[in-house]
Amino acid sequence: MTAQDARQYDIVLWGATGFTGRQAARYLHETYGKQGTLRWAIAGRDLGRLRRIRDQIGAPDLSLLQVPGADAAAADKLARSARVICATVAPAAQYATEMVAACARHGTDYCDLSGELHWLRRMIDQYDDLARSSGARIINACGFDSIPSDLGVQFLQQTAQEKFGEYCVHIKNCFDKGHIAVSGGSFASGLGVMKAVANDQALADLIADPNSLNPRDRMRGACNPELKQVQFDADFNQYLMPFPVGGINTRIVRRSHALTNFQYGEDFVYDEAKLAGSGLAAKTRAQLETFFTKLFVEGDPNSAFTRTLHSLGPKVGDGPSDEQIRRNGPFSFEMIGRTRSGKTLRGYVFSEWDPGHGGTAAMLCDTAWCLLQTRGSAGNQGGFTTTSVALGDTLRQQLATHAGIEFGIRSVRS
Ligand SMILES: NC(=O)c1ccc[n+]([C@@H]2O[C@H](COP(=O)([O-])OP(=O)(O)OC[C@H]3O[C@@H](n4cnc5c(N)ncnc54)[C@H](OP(=O)(O)O)[C@@H]3O)[C@@H](O)[C@H]2O)c1
Repeated sequence: MTAQDARQYDIVLWGATGFTGRQAARYLHETYGKQGTLRWAIAGRDLGRLRRIRDQIGAPDLSLLQVPGADAAAADKLARSARVICATVAPAAQYATEMVAACARHGTDYCDLSGELHWLRRMIDQYDDLARSSGARIINACGFDSIPSDLGVQFLQQTAQEKFGEYCVHIKNCFDKGHIAVSGGSFASGLGVMKAVANDQALADLIADPNSLNPRDRMRGACNPELKQVQFDADFNQYLMPFPVGGINTRIVRRSHALTNFQYGEDFVYDEAKLAGSGLAAKTRAQLETFFTKLFVEGDPNSAFTRTLHSLGPKVGDGPSDEQIRRNGPFSFEMIGRTRSGKTLRGYVFSEWDPGHGGTAAMLCDTAWCLLQTRGSAGNQGGFTTTSVALGDTLRQQLATHAGIEFGIRSVRS
């Protein structure tokens, strides 16, 4: 028995009282907890709220742990008691640094949902060496951003290699169906990134680099300019529009590629956008949506106009009802890959879940479960990693079996 096995909990879900955390608690209980073999607990800053979640999911024996954010002693204690910390506390940049540090120190695997680019860069710079030496695997963005993109690209590339004996040099991945509901926690996390970069030009330049999450010695790789406006795409035969979370997903995919020493070739290009349909009405709708999204996400957060606009966004504690969450699914991505010799593949990722909360919770929990199952297996080293690099096919199969998230191929053209 290793020191890891002797820890009190296999998985602790930290942030179980939030919109995504509640869905995650239910999923963990239904999928893994009910069988009785998983030693798990839910944690958060408020015991009363945790008790209510425990009642709602019908798990009367579940342990409850009071763990506030940004508390080094509490984080240390939790990281020493668990094999995997599964975190949904938000904004992570404000509350989760101590937890990441504690996990890196104690060799505790950690997964979260954060796509706060400035914070992810800072965490990698500060704690990657420590996590490597302790064996802790730290994986951020384990939800709708960026699992379908990260595992989707790996799946398409594996299929290209199998069918054609060569990798794709270019993959375009487009969000197709699904409604993304933004809760107060998500909105606050996004605002945190905007404010951090608005007040620090060097940070803004770093984050603007399309390879900004790559290991420091590999901050390179071929990229197309990010899509900024609505544009017709001949491959998809419809309009594409900018996809706001594409900025996170593309950087995670590029980090995965850099972590594998550019296994698809240094000229591999990955693009992400949103499908907008065909015809003039679709084009106009997409242009309007792009215009309003830009006002929200690209305005200077210090200006009076943007501050007023942001004051209209959801407040911390606001979010969709369970019924709305259910109605926001299903979601899907469509991918087209092209090899150097001109062969093409079309693939997809499809899920009955909503993207923002239910689907995200399922993906996060399955990541935690796979971290638990693969601990100590060959080739699994510590450090800041990604879902495709650390878990790959294991997680894809788990998602297909338990969360009904499907990765498939539509057509192959040699
Ligand atoms: N990757 C993805 O696809 C994806 C999808 C959805 C969400 N997210 C991200 O996931 C995060 C959570 O989103 P959400 O919608 O679940 O947000 P939320 O409902 O606002 O949940 C925030 C959580 O953080 C906790 N928290 C806040 N301040 C805390 C503190 N000082 N100490 C300890 N805990 C604290 C809250 O606890 P209380 O309940 O006690 O307030 C709550 O559990 C956000 O960063 C969001 O951007 C990512």
